[in-house]
Amino acid sequence: MRSTIIAAAAFAVGALATPTLLPKRDCNDTCMTFDQATAVANNFKSLISAYSNATADEYLAVDFMDYSDSVTTLIDSGCTSPLPLGSVTFGSREAFEAGQGSQPDIPFEILNMWYACTGPVVIRWRSAQTPNIVTGNIVMETVRDTTGSEPWLIKTVYSEFNSGDWLVNLGVFKPNCTADGNSAAGPVGKKAKRSLPHTSAALDDEAYPTGRPQLSRISYRCTIPWSEHKASRRS
Ligand SMILES: *[C@@H]1O[C@H](CO)[C@@H](O)[C@H](O)[C@H]1NC(C)=O
Ligand SMILES: *[C@@H]1O[C@H](CO)[C@@H](O)[C@H](O)[C@H]1NC(C)=O
Ligand SMILES: *[C@@H]1O[C@H](CO)[C@@H](O)[C@H](O)[C@H]1NC(C)=O
Repeated sequence: MRSTIIAAAAFAVGALATPTLLPKRDCNDTCMTFDQATAVANNFKSLISAYSNATADEYLAVDFMDYSDSVTTLIDSGCTSPLPLGSVTFGSREAFEAGQGSQPDIPFEILNMWYACTGPVVIRWRSAQTPNIVTGNIVMETVRDTTGSEPWLIKTVYSEFNSGDWLVNLGVFKPNCTADGNSAAGPVGKKAKRSLPHTSAALDDEAYPTGRPQLSRISYRCTIPWSEHKASRRS
């Protein structure tokens, strides 16, 4: 009797364990893997922290574009020219190379990373500058490439960061700060309208964790496209 029940249970499990398997597909060809996304993130980091034209040619698509009002603000020293705000900052790979190549290497730590099948790769980063640290976010659209060393090239960058602090670090903006955290004078000498929220040191530590950069993975599965998934469920 006992063995009959076990046999019946085993049969039931066996019956349940025979689903129609979805065909496996080479993720490497259709979807970015976690390691490939990490490589894209680290490639961009190296262009900021250890720049060379050779690696820029290797990591960036030929039709690379970079949108960043934060970078434009640094180029313009907080003014509205020569580069207009709200437009492309580097309209070609050559323009990026000419601009980035003339910069000193910048400390750049990746704090988080998120990615999807064919991109974008999204990172949150921090630059340990003095006196003020600079934090930013970058969305990188990518394209699959089979001609060079990198399976995924960075094609379009949308990057914004704390350019206010960066301009303070450069000495372009001279803040006049009172003890209660209100800036008495704004960047162009006007009274700042908004005061900063009063945060405790503990909260600041949480917002800016110290220690090793952590690459984190969002929930992501490399499977067949959703349209095919729906089709296979119907049949
Ligand atoms: C890197 O490439 C840019 C854009 O073509 C060029 O302006 C710059 O001179 C190059 N730098 C070096 C060191 O070759
Ligand atoms: C993934 O694709 C790259 C570029 O085409 C290739 O070099 C590499 O061998 C592939 N990896 C796997 C595990 O198939
Ligand atoms: C800084 O702000 C204080 C308070 O508003 C003001 O009294 C002082 O003149 C300012 N200093 C400079 C150098 O602007």
